[in-house]
Amino acid sequence: MTEKKKLGRNQKDTDDDMINLVDNLNRDDDLKYNRRAFLKTAVGTSVALGVATIPFSVKAMLGMNEKEKERVEIAKLEDLPVGESITFYYPTEKDPALLIHTVNGDLKAYNSACTHLMCPVFYEKTQDVLLCPCHAGYFDINNGHPKAGPPQRELPLIEIEVDNGVVYAVGRQYRHG
Ligand code: FES
Repeated sequence: MTEKKKLGRNQKDTDDDMINLVDNLNRDDDLKYNRRAFLKTAVGTSVALGVATIPFSVKAMLGMNEKEKERVEIAKLEDLPVGESITFYYPTEKDPALLIHTVNGDLKAYNSACTHLMCPVFYEKTQDVLLCPCHAGYFDINNGHPKAGPPQRELPLIEIEVDNGVVYAVGRQYRHG
C-alpha cells in the first residue's frame, strides 16, 4: 500500500518533471526566436536608417547644403574701401555675416554670430582681427579661427566670388562644426 502510494507520487513527480522540461524547452525556443527576431529587426532598422541618411552624410562631408550654394549679391567692391566691412545675410535672412575688405587688401567673409554665445563680431581694423565685444573673443581674420577669449570654434566661412566689380556669396563652409 505504502509502496503504491510511493509509486503514485513518483509517477506524479516524473510527469511534473516532464512538463517542466517541455516548458523549459519551449521557453528556451521562445527566447532563441525572440532574440533572433529582435536582432533581425535591429539590423534591418540600422541598415534602413544608414541608407536613409547617406544623402545627409554626403552633404555634411561636403560641409554645405544645397540652400547654401545659392549665389547672392553682397556689395559692389567700390562701395567697400580697404579697412571697411559690410553686414549681409547668408545663406538665409537669419544668418548675419560680414564681408571684410582687410587692411591688407583681401576680401574675407564669415557668419558674424560669435561661436561662443552668438553676439555679433565686428572687424577691428587696427588689429586686423574679428572681435566679439561681449566677452573679448578674438578671431583670426585670415581663417576665422578663434585666437583668444572664450570662443572655441571657427566662424563659418562664406565663400565669395567677385564678378564685374560685384562681390557675391556662393557657399558656406562649416569647419569643425
Ligand atoms: S559671445 Fe562672443 S565671446 Fe562670448
